[in-house]
Amino acid sequence: MTLSIDGWFTSFVPSQRHKHQHFGHLVVVDVPCAAPLHKDEAALSAAWGDKRKTTFAAGRHALRLALARAGVDVDGGIGRDDRGAPLLPPGVRGSLSHKDVVAAALVSTDIDGTIGIDLELVEPRSRPGLNRLAAQVLTQREQQQLPDDDDGRARACLLRFSLKEALYKALDPWVRRYVGFLEVEVDVDGADAVFAVPGFEATGAVVDVGRPGVIVTVARCRPLQGSRG
Ligand SMILES: CC(C)(COP(=O)(O)OP(=O)(O)OC[C@H]1O[C@@H](n2cnc3c(N)ncnc32)[C@H](O)[C@@H]1OP(=O)(O)O)[C@@H](O)C(=O)NCCC(=O)NCCS
Repeated sequence: MTLSIDGWFTSFVPSQRHKHQHFGHLVVVDVPCAAPLHKDEAALSAAWGDKRKTTFAAGRHALRLALARAGVDVDGGIGRDDRGAPLLPPGVRGSLSHKDVVAAALVSTDIDGTIGIDLELVEPRSRPGLNRLAAQVLTQREQQQLPDDDDGRARACLLRFSLKEALYKALDPWVRRYVGFLEVEVDVDGADAVFAVPGFEATGAVVDVGRPGVIVTVARCRPLQGSRG
């Protein structure tokens, strides 16, 4: 099944100001997918194991579909840059994420800034396991904001983890370095998110893709005026 959320919009309220935020064309596909890799992509992944090749192919497939939705025609294979991000034509922003059973991609041709997408599978975790994950990826302040009930806590923690990974993919083209989870904070209000990242304006969202147990998040970021970029 391919789920395509075309021209997906969400709204959020930063500093009491309402505005619409467009992250791009989002496509979700099943893994494994039937679509073959382009020969250049097959060459790129030739030495990888079967599992990695399978998710790579599904990610590329989702990305191609999202590019088509955005009206972008990519003839050859989609390579990777020196940081691991997909190589896209000038003016096109895109990102992808994959797990063993599902992959997703996000593409925009008109966004101001860069974008990222992440997906996570909700899996049962013990309370100590969850607390360990929370301590690794959330600041003290973020941990204090988590709900206390097990299910709510697990989902809230995973959402924030995912949002930070989506942000990382949007942020990396600007900073080109590993950014630790504790260097960034995220405030989540329903489906909308605002990140605190020094030097950048960054927002995010949680996307309901209609698949129970699958969390999809997206992020957008751009340098603050007068900052780097
Ligand atoms: C790079 C990273 C975010 C990938 O996330 P993941 O959960 O391992 O894997 P996903 O399936 O979600 O994403 C993989 C895709 O991300 C993309 N990607 C990899 N490195 C990237 C980078 N530096 N910038 C943008 N996109 C990148 C690729 O398209 C990759 O798929 P492909 O190799 O098949 O093309 C993660 O491995 C990582 O290093 N995270 C640590 C940093 C971080 O998240 N900090 C949070 C605070 S900002």
